[in-house]
Amino acid sequence: MDNRETNATWKYHNITKHPGMPPHYMDWENQPIPFKIYKNLDPIKIPEIQTLSESTALTSLSKSFTDTGSEHVPSLSALGHLLYLCAGITKKVKYPGGDTYFRAAACTGALYHIEIYIVTSDIKGLDAGVYHFSPHDFSLRRLRKGDFRGFLAGATAGDESIATAPFTVVCTSTFWRNSWKYQARAYRHTFWDNGTILANLLAASFAYGIQSKIVLGFIDTVVNKLLGLDTEKEVAVSLIPLGKLRTQVPVCKEEMEEIHYEAEALSKTEVDYPSIREIHSASSLTTEKEVSKWSRGGYKHSYPKPKGKTFRLRPDDDKEIDRPSDTLENTILRRGSTRKFDRVPITFIQLSNILYRSTRGIPADFLKSPESTLNDIYLIVNDVEEIPQGSYFYNRGRNVLELLNEGDFRRKATQLGLGQELPGNASVDVFFLADLTNVLNEFGNRGYRAAQLEAGIIGGKLYLAAYGLGLGASGLTFFDDNVTRFFSPHAQAKSTMFLVALGKSE
Ligand SMILES: Cc1cc2nc3c(=O)[nH]c(=O)nc-3n(C[C@H](O)[C@H](O)[C@H](O)COP(=O)(O)O)c2cc1C
Repeated sequence: MDNRETNATWKYHNITKHPGMPPHYMDWENQPIPFKIYKNLDPIKIPEIQTLSESTALTSLSKSFTDTGSEHVPSLSALGHLLYLCAGITKKVKYPGGDTYFRAAACTGALYHIEIYIVTSDIKGLDAGVYHFSPHDFSLRRLRKGDFRGFLAGATAGDESIATAPFTVVCTSTFWRNSWKYQARAYRHTFWDNGTILANLLAASFAYGIQSKIVLGFIDTVVNKLLGLDTEKEVAVSLIPLGKLRTQVPVCKEEMEEIHYEAEALSKTEVDYPSIREIHSASSLTTEKEVSKWSRGGYKHSYPKPKGKTFRLRPDDDKEIDRPSDTLENTILRRGSTRKFDRVPITFIQLSNILYRSTRGIPADFLKSPESTLNDIYLIVNDVEEIPQGSYFYNRGRNVLELLNEGDFRRKATQLGLGQELPGNASVDVFFLADLTNVLNEFGNRGYRAAQLEAGIIGGKLYLAAYGLGLGASGLTFFDDNVTRFFSPHAQAKSTMFLVALGKSE
């Protein structure tokens, strides 16, 4: 399949819309385990967290550590901090059906289908190699010994941030762990749930002074082979080079030895959803030429001149924002999706800080600058001081909210959010919509991965910003076309990517 044959994306996107997904019953007896557990590999313990950054959540999440050109190699302990703050187990809750191990970042259905691997050079305390991160015992397991970073450099057509990184985090998705509940829609969740992890990882890397970047342009087969993945079931999704060395690792294009390690069965049986494999294959990059083109990609985003009444956001500056905002570590430890919102207002300053800060600081190979975007943001304001209830468009170019329609849309918000009460009770609902035609023209099918992932990252940042200010948030699913219709004509022809509700937790 060809990345440029974008009918594949439209086909997948259209068959996984709500309403339209086939009814499904959850087979609790066959629920997959939430971890990848290798049977015969010894754990290498990661040092416990020792020092805290004390950087605030709102500062860390809105900035990216720009390339100063100077060398910095994060320690093993810093790597441990990053892994814990993006994918570690932060609480265990006992339920009649068994314990749930909640993680640092939100995840659809608490199913935690995103796995994390590290490809590293020699760093103090850890030999060069390819490792799997196991959150259940907070350890690494070695899959390959030696410096394999050259293969990643080869897979990314020599991407400089990859070639100079002492280590790169690779995120994968194990489809069945999510499709057990969400069927073929799980492919969208791959990017939403990877996005919330990356929001935490970017914020933590800024807090610890570690350069980072998100790289989606890579030859899929090379990265999958490097990790020894069974690609019918698990695939690489994103690469995040961390730190900087003065010298680049030479690109390696040699044949790699196959590896295979046995892992515990996820459940008794697994159901295959061919449409997931099809869209993944259609959005795969297969040649260096395709990757080079992708990495040079840049997406021009223009904002229409506002027609309606506008309200300029009033975010606090860097000094002011630190006062009401909790530290990043405390915020991540306290974070948990709001299960019920109080019907009370939040202030316009709070909304300004949350929106402004969350939409910045994403260093990614699919964005021209950390401030550019593939998604547009639309809002339903149920209760925010100083501005009327209604539907809005966030014009990032002018940093204003444009009022589209004034009115009480609480009931509408509930309907759009699949009939769930959360968006109706929340103070504000933030919808992500992308002009998929433009995105696919620019990037081919892989643009779909990028648009979904970016929505997930900003969604993850919204969580951190809200909790950093003592508020609550929840990611939500939605009735796709009804959302577009609701925000039209402004949102005409755009596709709904994701939804996050914000407010005060009851
Ligand atoms: C992408 C995404 C979509 C979600 N959709 C819903 C939803 O539709 N309804 C809901 O009640 N919770 C939703 N959640 C919240 C998850 O259920 C929650 O993150 C998960 O149970 C883990 O709990 P925690 O966030 O409190 O750690 C969503 C979360 C994410 C990240």
